[in-house]
Amino acid sequence: MSVQSPTYYIRTFGCQMNAHDSERMAGMLESEGYARVEQPDDASVVLFNTCCIRENADQKLYGNLGHMKALKDTRPDLRIVVGGCLAQKDKDVIQRRAPYVDVVLGTHNLASLPRLLRESTAGPAFEILEQTEVFPSALPSRRMSSWHAWVSISIGCNNSCTFCIVPAVRGREVSRRLGDIVAEVESLVADGVVEVTLLGQNVNSYGRDLDGTPMFSKLLRALDRVVGLERIRFTSPHPKDFRADSVAAMAECAAVCEHIHLPAQSGSDSCLKRMKRAYTRSSYLEKVRMVRAAIPGVAITTDIIVGFPGETEAEFQDTLTLVEEARYDQAFTFQYSPRPMTSAADLPDHLPKEVVQERFERLIALQNGFSLESNRRMLGNTFEVLVEGPSKKDPSRASGRTRTNKLVHFLDDGATQGSLRTIRVIDARPHHVEGELVDGPRRDAKRSMSLPLVGAGTACDACG
Ligand code: 5AD
Ligand code: SF4
Repeated sequence: MSVQSPTYYIRTFGCQMNAHDSERMAGMLESEGYARVEQPDDASVVLFNTCCIRENADQKLYGNLGHMKALKDTRPDLRIVVGGCLAQKDKDVIQRRAPYVDVVLGTHNLASLPRLLRESTAGPAFEILEQTEVFPSALPSRRMSSWHAWVSISIGCNNSCTFCIVPAVRGREVSRRLGDIVAEVESLVADGVVEVTLLGQNVNSYGRDLDGTPMFSKLLRALDRVVGLERIRFTSPHPKDFRADSVAAMAECAAVCEHIHLPAQSGSDSCLKRMKRAYTRSSYLEKVRMVRAAIPGVAITTDIIVGFPGETEAEFQDTLTLVEEARYDQAFTFQYSPRPMTSAADLPDHLPKEVVQERFERLIALQNGFSLESNRRMLGNTFEVLVEGPSKKDPSRASGRTRTNKLVHFLDDGATQGSLRTIRVIDARPHHVEGELVDGPRRDAKRSMSLPLVGAGTACDACG
């Protein structure tokens, strides 16, 4: 690498939204002539894109910044940048605890990064805006994958779930124009992308701020017409806004994958009320039934919080029975932890750690059984997988995902990343299945299979 060429190292914490923001920051730096490096030691700019949803996010950041201070002591020209949700929330704290940080920028002004870096040669440059002024769609993006792309359809959230810090750090919901999204996806596909994941805090309210009515289903249908796009995923819908028109679009659009992540958070009506989730257990389960009836073989996943303030054993039992009734393919389980700027943090009756831990373990044990059962239903059947690359655990094997988002490991025959192949499932575990590559036809109606391509048995949870 030339000595003159400036370099950057970027580390991302948190969710897909943050990962995509990092792609944008990387894209902007590369268009300014920066080259990416894999170690902070080799970088002229070190960038931390932070998250504040996970517990201990701040400890992680300050630990990393401590290491950077030592580096900066030996290389005073090193620029340190902190962006993302924690920066949005804690600008002053960062300034106080890590005065050697050069640039702090929030979630609403990614586009300012190159300017702030230039300004920081004269002293620290901190800029936090309260609200996004322009949707950052025009920013260049340095994608982490040649065949998959995150596509942001809205930012911010107008809900007020009492445990959640997102509205405080990502602001009010702003939707991106439908034509701009379609144009981006068309250009991604022209560039070799075969799968997109649409990103929004609440994808189902997409468009409400544009013309008064949600138009997520219209967006799905428009994207389904993009020739060459094989798979459309999205994350996440809020159960209260997830409606029949979206289910119909999911069922009818060939490229839309047969997987939905529908965060329940709790199975108890009283707990849901304290969480301000704006749906009940029964209206939630009604949506689960609607999805299963309309989309054969659909996989349903969820998020659940254990130990919300005041959660009684009876309320927790309601969560266990919800899990039994919904029969999730997978659940992401979280132990409640108070977040600053959230109203749940001020609720009475926070639970002792050991009570939460014990409930958490019971929930995981229950869900693991359902996850395994759902994967076992795949045994002997063949599925289309999108090859992701070498398996993280065993690089001599390859990994891919079915349309239902099941992780499949299989013996690599030189399968190209981003290619669509057919595998037969030969073993099932709770969190992945083992497969073998088979030569088989690729389906082109509803473009492939969450249902078995060949073989006996049913992969349909509704009737399984
Ligand atoms: N405590 C525990 N889990 C939380 N989540 C969000 N906020 C909290 C919190 N304060 C979980 C929710 C959400 C997921 C992304 O993180 O389940 O859906
Ligand atoms: Fe947070 Fe609720 Fe908005 Fe999701 S819908 S981002 S949990 S406030």
